[in-house]
Amino acid sequence: MTDEERNEMVVTPWEVRGKVDYERLIREFGTQPLTDDLLRKLSKHTGKLHLQLQRGLFFSHRDLDIVLDQYEKGTKFVLYTGRGPSGPVHIGHLVPWIFTKHLQEKFDTRLYFQMTDDEKFVVDDELSLKETARYGYENALDLIALGFEPEKTFIIYDVRDIDLLYDIALEVAKRITYSTAKATFGFQDDTNLGWIFWPSIQAVPCFIHKKLTGENVPALIPAAIDQDPYWRITRDIAQKLGYYKPAQIHCRFLPGLGIGGKMSASEPETSIFTIDKPEVVKKKIWNAFTGGRPSKAEQKKMGADPDICTVYQYFVYLFEEDDQKLAEREKRCRSGEVMCGECKIELAERVNRFLAEHQRKRENAKKIVEKFHIKR
Ligand code: TRP
Repeated sequence: MTDEERNEMVVTPWEVRGKVDYERLIREFGTQPLTDDLLRKLSKHTGKLHLQLQRGLFFSHRDLDIVLDQYEKGTKFVLYTGRGPSGPVHIGHLVPWIFTKHLQEKFDTRLYFQMTDDEKFVVDDELSLKETARYGYENALDLIALGFEPEKTFIIYDVRDIDLLYDIALEVAKRITYSTAKATFGFQDDTNLGWIFWPSIQAVPCFIHKKLTGENVPALIPAAIDQDPYWRITRDIAQKLGYYKPAQIHCRFLPGLGIGGKMSASEPETSIFTIDKPEVVKKKIWNAFTGGRPSKAEQKKMGADPDICTVYQYFVYLFEEDDQKLAEREKRCRSGEVMCGECKIELAERVNRFLAEHQRKRENAKKIVEKFHIKR
């Protein structure tokens, strides 16, 4: 790959590469920006806006306005999100889940969570079904550790639960042509058949609530924007099948600790996994890419650049809730008062404090994981 190809923006459900231009994604995907008006409307129901909205981590949507209008008129909605279990969970994955939990609390609503062990099997040459099922279980522990309510949270493990999904998947598949799927996902002649059919499975939880309860309500999907192609094809056929179009609220990718791209399990050195030991976390953060200068003297004189700093981004999106303290950190960085080592040490402490608690809850989740499995 040439440097130019490496830097070029690519955002698909299977690959995120280069510098991501979110404004451009809104235009190219045809989604709507989250406006202040809409955020105000949302906060009528949630109270103070969640940190991830305040700081613009969630930045785009489809039909959130419609879902809220309907809600105000008495039609509830359900939440839907998911995970492709191809490895251990890193803290980037937790970001939309934390936000989803906030919505579940505020709107007192169900969450359907799809664990796509089948998708990861068909898409990944290396992984066996046994491995994706095992990661499905491991990843569910991370989800549960965040404190979702067992009575309202339904995890679907695709391979185990295919009997529940298959009729709706067929209804969906029948109405999407190969040419649409090809244009949406970029399928090639050598794409395997499992992969080509697979998007019909990701559509199912948008609609499953009606089958389970008889109630027809829209699904609202909080997820990173790379999943949007799935929702485009699902939205196209929803009404033909008698359902609401699923609505979305899209977030950015939490960057890895290296340069560019998102945090990715395939780059373990720049990803902080939820099961990492404190020493490992320290080391990864110590090696992180920052906006610092080559020498201490230069940094003192010219200051550093938080805009490109991965360490700073973690404070923004997850680990510094206090706006004033964050502004202070930014100021001290730009003016060259603080050196990168100091920020790294502080971040590692915060991350390790968070992970100690998360790992304890994750252990606990082993006892209750079955309670979250979707019932027939
Ligand atoms: N395809 C997603 C992935 O690979 C998993 C997934 C399934 C998902 N359903 C979802 C993600 C709904 C977000 C929302 O990670």
